[in-house]
Amino acid sequence: MSVRRDPDRAVLEGFHAVKHALRFGAEVERMVCADRTTVQELADMLAPDVAGAMAQAEEIGDAAILEMTAMPPAGGIVAVARRPAVALDVLLADPSPRPIVLLEAPRRLGNIGACVRVAAAADAAGVLTTGVSDPWHPDALRGSAGLHFALPVARVEDDVSFGDRPLVALATGGTPLGPGVVPPRAVLAFGTERHGLSDALLARADARVEIPMREGVSSLNLATAVAVTLYSP
Ligand SMILES: C[S@@+](CC[C@H](N)C(=O)[O-])C[C@H]1O[C@@H](n2cnc3c(N)ncnc32)[C@H](O)[C@@H]1O
Repeated sequence: MSVRRDPDRAVLEGFHAVKHALRFGAEVERMVCADRTTVQELADMLAPDVAGAMAQAEEIGDAAILEMTAMPPAGGIVAVARRPAVALDVLLADPSPRPIVLLEAPRRLGNIGACVRVAAAADAAGVLTTGVSDPWHPDALRGSAGLHFALPVARVEDDVSFGDRPLVALATGGTPLGPGVVPPRAVLAFGTERHGLSDALLARADARVEIPMREGVSSLNLATAVAVTLYSP
């Protein structure tokens, strides 16, 4: 089986993805690079905290790196790590006010990665997805710059229970987003890029919240909507 399709592995393509994975404690099994001097120079300049670990990358040359990846990775570095197990019950029971981001059946892997990246930056409790897309696909990891390792990220069933956490649907026609509108410990649900949230999820939601937009604008990009919501006071 190709390592890119191995459900137990995370393939990290490019300097920033490898950097964040190392920084947030990924269990890296293999790290290879086109040219170790290039990697070391980048690490010394941009990530001295993980420069020692990156110096362990095995030098295999340009051609071998290009064979492993769909696109040339930044800095010519690729790593394979174990995907961390996510304990859903522990995540849901987390008593802190931090929200969970729920992406309902997202389609674009780059979008999933961008959502994970901003969720990590905003210190959300975790990111859950439903539907067929693998949130740990190498292209999603590129989009998150490896920040999947900074918080729990997992795929769940459509009818998963969120326990005592309030489910807040982000959709037009709801209460305008503003101070105090989103309750603590919320599960913030965002819909698919094309169709928005399903009727089933809207029916389950405890609240519906919208990000105000100028007349004539239909919607925000999925990752932009996640960013605005997470950073709203
Ligand atoms: C690209 S939008 C989906 C657009 C889709 N055509 C629709 O009608 O909902 C992806 C998701 O981002 C969120 N979103 C985008 N703009 C929003 C807004 N102004 N208010 C609340 N949520 C928004 C929603 O959860 C939406 O399902």
